[in-house]
Amino acid sequence: MVSARIVLLLLATLLCAGAAVASSWEDHDGHRCARRCEDRPWHQRARCVEQCREEEERERQQQEERGRGDRHEHDRRGEGSSSGDEREQEQEQGRRPYVFDRRSFRRVVRSEQGSVRALRPFHEASKLLRGIRNYRVAVLEANPRSFVVPSHTDAHCIGYVVQGEGVVTTIENGERRSYTIKEGHIFVAPAGAITYLANTDGRKKLVIAKILHTISVPGEFQFFFGPGGRNPESFLSSFSKSIQRAAYKTSSDRLERLFGKRGQDKGVIVRATEEQIRELRHQASSEGGHGPHWPLPPFGESHGPYSLLDQRPSIGNQHGQLYEADARSFRDLADHDVSVSFANITAGSMSAPLFNTRAFKIAYVARGQGNAEIVCPHQQQQSQSQRGGKGRRRSEEEEEEGGSSEEEEAGQGYRTIRARLSQGTVFVVPVGHPFVAVAARDSNLEIVCFELRAEKNEKVFLAGADNVLKKLDRVAKALSFAAKAEEVDEVLGARREKGFLPGPEEESGRREEREREEEERGGRHGGRGEREKEEEEEEEREGRHGGRGQRKQEEEEREGRHGGRGRREEAAETLLRMVTARM
Ligand SMILES: *[C@@H]1O[C@H](CO)[C@@H](O)[C@H](O)[C@H]1NC(C)=O
Repeated sequence: MVSARIVLLLLATLLCAGAAVASSWEDHDGHRCARRCEDRPWHQRARCVEQCREEEERERQQQEERGRGDRHEHDRRGEGSSSGDEREQEQEQGRRPYVFDRRSFRRVVRSEQGSVRALRPFHEASKLLRGIRNYRVAVLEANPRSFVVPSHTDAHCIGYVVQGEGVVTTIENGERRSYTIKEGHIFVAPAGAITYLANTDGRKKLVIAKILHTISVPGEFQFFFGPGGRNPESFLSSFSKSIQRAAYKTSSDRLERLFGKRGQDKGVIVRATEEQIRELRHQASSEGGHGPHWPLPPFGESHGPYSLLDQRPSIGNQHGQLYEADARSFRDLADHDVSVSFANITAGSMSAPLFNTRAFKIAYVARGQGNAEIVCPHQQQQSQSQRGGKGRRRSEEEEEEGGSSEEEEAGQGYRTIRARLSQGTVFVVPVGHPFVAVAARDSNLEIVCFELRAEKNEKVFLAGADNVLKKLDRVAKALSFAAKAEEVDEVLGARREKGFLPGPEEESGRREEREREEEERGGRHGGRGEREKEEEEEEEREGRHGGRGQRKQEEEEREGRHGGRGRREEAAETLLRMVTARM
């Protein structure tokens, strides 16, 4: 009796322990692994999960060999060979949640002749990007004279041809359409439409940047390969053998050769012969797939690419050009509420600071170098505490002032997210967030932009000819800038260019201005301790200036230093701050 109970107890304990081990695997590495595997095409998932388990097991064994007692669990989670990188990346993105460099992409299709890489879902990257969780960014690269085998996806695809040329074919509503694409073309492949394409160039890679609008599982997309064999695995081979035989009225042997393990195994992107390429190209031109011409065809069904770079720029001057396509100019975009634009910023110039009234902007750097600044008012508690020092001090200050650190006070501090831009960088600008992009001095900066929720969106410029601040009425100007309206107007009216402006380095007379600024600062700050100055510089370096303007001013007032400052200077400074989003 007693022994039976003990046995039962023992059994129960063992079972619990087993469950705990299993769930800890799920919770930690398993979870991360599983998530990583979710990004793989479905036919690779089983293997991916298997690899994860093996990796996990190996790591655990290594840990045990080292025998470091209690810290096992901690290390295993924090310093695992691949997971360490990932954590670093997460921290990095905690600081700059809107910026994704080339390394942030994961390969979802790997093939000898090319690849498809995708960013992970936005809502996983940052809470602040939950609003666009239904969209993903992917980049396809296909070698010269290669062919991307037919598949369909459970997401709509809006693609921009960044480089090269090719032929795209889609089968939709029972009709096959082929069209040629080249650099600067936009095309749409709707969810479920069987799509394939070829790089028809003999030397250049074909590069397509895409937005995937997911409509099945938010933020997730899958490729389905019908034609295929071993790699890519044809989904047809997953039906029962008897079903396959009945469906195709043929022998298992033949099925095996067509869809099965003995079928195609060269991957998703395969090499094509010159003849095959010629035939595909011929097909596309004979079907007249050159995109919609104005006027649109009678039934409004425009299918085919839209040549963005052949249009007149909507904004253009010596500092840059902006080409835009929306649902009105390109009907295919209407179903997706996305607009696509291309900005070519001249070396040394910049876009005028602006914000979007409704759209989320996803920008992909097609070519060139430069940097961007995005001004973000969101308080990021977790990343602040990670950064220790500054961040913590700030929240302490807030507490001293009687507000809990949860409380948000409007107009009290912004974060400037700075991004170095180079080919392949993606940055996201949320609704209403002011931003600017600056081209490096020695290279143009070419950016492809997808604006999500584009309908009724308006670009609101904060500097240049159509500066919205100029539209404030006299009283509003005087009250909000604490300066005479004339003075405000002088500053606001200084730039005549529209949309694109001279950049911070290019600007003529810039040195003079800097000298003047320095003089002013010197006068104002005269006698301030070296330490304070250092602190400021540090803050600037960190790109953080939450409430600093305010704080500085308060300090100055307390110390009675305020008196010497002219109102004009102050107004100019406030304006500059607003316009360039710098403090
Ligand atoms: C961008 O502008 C430069 C001239 O400033 C031009 O040479 C280049 O071709 C343009 N890029 C595109 C993609 O149109």
